[in-house]
Amino acid sequence: MKKLYIETVGCQMNVLDSELVVAALRKEGYELTASTADADTVLFNTCSVRQHAEDKIYSALGRIKEAKRDDPKKVIGVIGCMAQKDQQLVFDRAPYVDLVVGPGQLHQVPQLIRNIEAGAGQQMEVSLGRKEGSRDQIERSHESFDPLRDPSMRPTPFQAYVRIQIGCDKFCTYCIVPSVRGPEQSRPPEQIVAEARQLVSEGCKEITLLGQTVNSYRYQAGERTTRFSDLLTDLHAIEGLERLKFVTNYPKDMTDDLLAAVRDLPKCAKYLHVPAQSGSDAQLKRMRRGYTVAEYREMFARTVEKIPGVAVSSDFIVGFSGETDADFQLSMDLVRECRFKNSFIFKYSERPGTKGADLLPDDVPEQVKRDRNNEMLALQNEISEADNQGFLGRQVKVLVEGLSKAAQKKESPSAEDNGPLVQLIGRTMCDRIVVFDGNRRQVGQTMPIAIYDANVHTLFGTVVTQHVGAELVTLE
Ligand code: SAH
Ligand code: SF4
Ligand code: F3S
Repeated sequence: MKKLYIETVGCQMNVLDSELVVAALRKEGYELTASTADADTVLFNTCSVRQHAEDKIYSALGRIKEAKRDDPKKVIGVIGCMAQKDQQLVFDRAPYVDLVVGPGQLHQVPQLIRNIEAGAGQQMEVSLGRKEGSRDQIERSHESFDPLRDPSMRPTPFQAYVRIQIGCDKFCTYCIVPSVRGPEQSRPPEQIVAEARQLVSEGCKEITLLGQTVNSYRYQAGERTTRFSDLLTDLHAIEGLERLKFVTNYPKDMTDDLLAAVRDLPKCAKYLHVPAQSGSDAQLKRMRRGYTVAEYREMFARTVEKIPGVAVSSDFIVGFSGETDADFQLSMDLVRECRFKNSFIFKYSERPGTKGADLLPDDVPEQVKRDRNNEMLALQNEISEADNQGFLGRQVKVLVEGLSKAAQKKESPSAEDNGPLVQLIGRTMCDRIVVFDGNRRQVGQTMPIAIYDANVHTLFGTVVTQHVGAELVTLE
């Protein structure tokens, strides 16, 4: 048995890619190990979205240098978005790396490792850049191998990601994703449904559909067009599937048919992640997001009106090129007004190779970025906490994901299924995290929980023992 160590950073796309790479390598006789020391192969699945994500990987590579010197047979690989972006630069900066593979070439990993073991030297496989061929050639060079799966790499045995779209064509000026993940391509609906069916037959109850702009999904075959809402309807029909989620939404593609599908399909999570990025028209224009703040507001109002109880979350970038105090305050106004369930807030990080880096100066001082980040975070936290307080005394339906972090630390591997109560963690249909005491055997079940306490990120509750005559309360 050979041993594989794999470390993953970045978004859910990368988590899924790691699952696929592990599945392919298991077929070659590999098993996973948690330590780099006894690994035959060490892989870093990387992200380039912000400088910080890259720095983390280069310092991890720095730490592995000695291990490689002590054991030259150890294969060190850098895969994923930073491999695609930096290419030869990875070898230049870390000459002891054996393997560089972009996200569109991951199916080649097993063969490339075999080449290295056979003495072929450093191996690199990346996809074509956005100007290095015809659209068709570039698309082909980014195709991946999704149906190969490895259950042990999933978030939990009953939750899985399914990619419905690869790449991105939106070219927001700050963003590296379109150049590392290639052109936007939707997968055929039959393939997606077949993959989902397979996952459900293996015990998956919750499927999260992935795409950079997932709601831009559209598949054309002859006369027939499958819209995203059609795909949701098809997936919803799979027996045994309990929950259907999807990320990330592009504000402009939040169509009425999609909102109606989310409202009418009971298995669809009433949770939508729709990043605004900024509340200033001037900034949205510089970002080339393709919508105005008024259009975002209209989309938001329509969403809340059409889907009762929906939770909307957002992303914001602070300190993007040219952002004035007034621009920033407009973003704050949008947060205040929309009262997002939560927001991911990022300081602008200039990415070489983007339009933003080429044409727009990174002119907001680091300290100002930091202050704005903290200010917005404080506001969002206040909103999230108040929002969570609204759940006090209510009942929610929770899909139990596993032991809470605290309980995992305490847990001994021999604990019985029906042993003493442990702290469990799960999520509501509107993506709120709930912590409560229960039995290990409840992991993977959907249960009613009564909420008695709440803070910024978490609801705390107790399992509701259902009995005849119990008060009827709506379950979220
Ligand atoms: N495709 C998704 C998100 C992609 S990246 C979407 O369009 O919403 C996730 C988030 O990272 C983005 O929403 C954005 O807020 C942030 N981000 C992307 N590039 C960035 C950069 N150069 N600096 C800081 N944050 C960035
Ligand atoms: Fe990046 Fe914009 Fe595409 Fe999202 S939509 S991945 S932010 S270019
Ligand atoms: Fe990062 Fe690539 Fe995802 S750049 S955010 S891992 S698509």
